[in-house]
Amino acid sequence: MTTVHWAPAKKLKGSVRPPADKSISHRAAILGAMAAEPVRVRNYLHAEDTTSTLNAVRALGALVTVDEGGDLVTIRGTGLRNAQVPDGPIDVGNAGTLMRLLPGWLAGQEGQAYTLDGDSSIRRRPVDRVAEPLRRMGATIDATDDRLPPFTVTGARLRSIAYDLPVASAQVKSCVLLAGLMADGATTVVEPAPSRDHTERMLAAAGVTVHRNGRHVTVTNVDELVLDDLVVPGDPSSAAFMIAAGVLVGGSRITITGSGTNWTRTGFHRIVQRMGGIVVGELEDAPDDGVVGTEPIGDLEVAHGPLTGTVVEADEVPPAIDELPLVALLGCFAEGETIVRGAHELRLKESDRIATVVDGLNALGGDLTATDDGFVVRGTGGLKGGTIHSHGDHRLAMLGAIAGLASEEGVTVEGMEAADVSYPTFADDIGSLIGG
Ligand code: S3P
Repeated sequence: MTTVHWAPAKKLKGSVRPPADKSISHRAAILGAMAAEPVRVRNYLHAEDTTSTLNAVRALGALVTVDEGGDLVTIRGTGLRNAQVPDGPIDVGNAGTLMRLLPGWLAGQEGQAYTLDGDSSIRRRPVDRVAEPLRRMGATIDATDDRLPPFTVTGARLRSIAYDLPVASAQVKSCVLLAGLMADGATTVVEPAPSRDHTERMLAAAGVTVHRNGRHVTVTNVDELVLDDLVVPGDPSSAAFMIAAGVLVGGSRITITGSGTNWTRTGFHRIVQRMGGIVVGELEDAPDDGVVGTEPIGDLEVAHGPLTGTVVEADEVPPAIDELPLVALLGCFAEGETIVRGAHELRLKESDRIATVVDGLNALGGDLTATDDGFVVRGTGGLKGGTIHSHGDHRLAMLGAIAGLASEEGVTVEGMEAADVSYPTFADDIGSLIGG
């Protein structure tokens, strides 16, 4: 385990390019493996989670090569219905997105059985949410205690369904849409609130008929996928740590380049702006009906500013889901109360992020209360500092680091290596802004 002390920073200056988008990299690898022709992916994320995905698709028969110092990943897929059966279980590591998307493809491999397993954190994350729609489509899913990994997917000739998502989850939506490609007609998913739409966009780029009508997303079955070359934008969820640092550390001025600005991922940016933080850039507008086959990319300017508390309601949660820990941190520095509601999903992430964030920030001098579906933060104008444990959760490790930069006495993060799951160059990027 790595322990790192993050001392208070005077001001952060300079320019930083966030690492490639984790969600889009997972999808590029999986759709690349499903495609009939080789797919070239530029700026693939080389981090623990997305390396698990490359290894998983290799195990299923895809040929993956990495060239040009890592910048170019080429995936020669098996085609839609020809995934091979590996010798042993597919190891998804810590990657919930891999664990929930891949079964959508595997469900369409008639008569073939695939077992998925992962680390100790993955083994407490539910898969019943994907098992239910896949069973309705005709696949067989055998899970531990009927809801947890390790679990086995046995593929079948799939029926198309219309599925009402019980929770707004892009992972579950994506799983059903991928299975829908191999079903016997058009498959519809109804979302309670719009979640990230990278799968829809990438499928549209691959020539699939994808429609959005309000909260309804429909895909039509296809014989094969043919994807053009892909370029992965910078990850707005990783950029969010730099945004929080720039807003919290007095006198800071940061430029963030090449970040994804997809509306379904920039809920945090809108919350920060509402709290009074300075985040300027061309963010995508809320989408109309219809699906575009591209991902917007832009630059952002971030500066320190005084914050006031805010209320985040359920419909704002999906586009900010992974950044809500940072909203809690900003709330500690804001004037008044910051409340997040309708975010019960946080309890099912890499750690129980309601418990770990509230306990972690309280140990640093914050004044937070956990609720069943969120938290209440009473702003105290700052944080004293202390020690926080990552619980193996990458976002908690990086939250502790940013808290340290903005604190009075610094923060020691135990388990800092967890950041490698999504942001292996995190410490270097922060270092460059401190010295900037
Ligand atoms: C993701 C969707 C979200 C998010 C996760 C990545 C994705 O999960 O929290 O980090 O890539 O689809 P849910 O869809 O389960 O909310």
